[in-house]
Amino acid sequence: MRMYDLILKKRNGEELTTEEINYFIDSYTKGKIPDYQASALLMAIYFQKMNRRETADLTMAMAHSGDVLNLSSIEGIKVDKHSTGGVGDTTTLVLGPMVAALGIPVAKMSGRGLGHTGGTIDKLESFEGFSVEMSEEEFISNVNKIKLVVGGQTGNLAPADKKLYALRDVTATVDNISLIASSIMSKKIAAGADCIVLDVKVGEGAFMKNKEAAFQLAEEMVSIGKSVGRNTVAVISDMNQPLGYAIGNALEVKEAIDTLKGKGPKDLYELCLTLGSHMVVLAGKAEDEAHGRRLLMETIENGKALEKLKEFVRAQGGEDTSIEHIENLPRAEYITPVISDKNGYVGKIHAERMGIIAAELGAGRATKEDIIDLAVGLVLVKKVGDKISKGDTLAYVYANDKEKGEKAVNNILNNYEISVERAEDIPLIYGIVK
Ligand code: URA
Ligand code: CA
Repeated sequence: MRMYDLILKKRNGEELTTEEINYFIDSYTKGKIPDYQASALLMAIYFQKMNRRETADLTMAMAHSGDVLNLSSIEGIKVDKHSTGGVGDTTTLVLGPMVAALGIPVAKMSGRGLGHTGGTIDKLESFEGFSVEMSEEEFISNVNKIKLVVGGQTGNLAPADKKLYALRDVTATVDNISLIASSIMSKKIAAGADCIVLDVKVGEGAFMKNKEAAFQLAEEMVSIGKSVGRNTVAVISDMNQPLGYAIGNALEVKEAIDTLKGKGPKDLYELCLTLGSHMVVLAGKAEDEAHGRRLLMETIENGKALEKLKEFVRAQGGEDTSIEHIENLPRAEYITPVISDKNGYVGKIHAERMGIIAAELGAGRATKEDIIDLAVGLVLVKKVGDKISKGDTLAYVYANDKEKGEKAVNNILNNYEISVERAEDIPLIYGIVK
């Protein structure tokens, strides 16, 4: 087989066979195909697209490009949740403990943040000593013991995705449905859970900017999951404004703790209940979503979800006393309010820009080697639809560098659109695909 022929075939709009797709992934992972040929094929896929069969084949080839975890020694139906990436999205830190508190094993592979989106592992490192480094045995024993574990993507989990994602990032071939679906699902399949709940974000702060594309992506991923016996449900949720109020690692941890104490932002809590109710149903612990939702709400009311967070943080080496003593979490030196100079209503909060502003304060990385500052970020005070008078505080900036903080204040002001009339409410959930 020759890579040249595959590129030509796809360039001309033809379908690639299973053998051809396997050849491409296998050879590229082993370093036998140069990046320029892989890039040419990605661009051909971008323009000519792949059908469902090709997308499924690509996913399976990527899933098997490295280790596939065997979680069969974990008791019960294992559930995993994955978001396509958003701003201020703290759901895992709330949802993981809630679902685990019901006795459902949550074995989660999480990532670090890159670009304008945050990552669960970085957030969890706000607990001093917390680590995701562990052997497969420890991973499994932790889930069996406390029902919740968060691991990092090990060196050899879907290595084809790691290489291809980096290449897509620099060749303008990220936002293709087949390429995103195979990237996410290959990792989920390799990570071994029995059922998967996907949070497909749509809007300005997401990869999928419009609803049609988001639904199509959701349908592809659900169909891939089902075709390999992983019961999969996708929730399409809004990412036109940041989720909750906090953006930044320790700030989001605090927001998650508040939510577990029953004092969190409404949108974050609601999204957790929606995603969680599907997880509970898939795990066979509730008859329907309404029942699942009631069970989850009880874990907040009876404090069991908060207790589960403490247990989980301790089990992974973290300092759990900061859950009761929030002041012990990393704290920023300069806290500056952003003051509105207009009257009206918040019309828009540009989510992607907010993510970038937080990253520039130090909450995210520009390159993989950057060290992040856990304390910094933003806390919004006003969200879309809120009434504003001149002089009101829109948000707070948490900075450790005075100059960067001042720059962030101006940037935030420019990315809050204040309108004279109150805009229509943005829905939080656009639909479910299952
Ligand atoms: N997240 C992934 O892991 N891969 C993509 O292609 C997009 C979002
Ligand atoms: Ca948030």
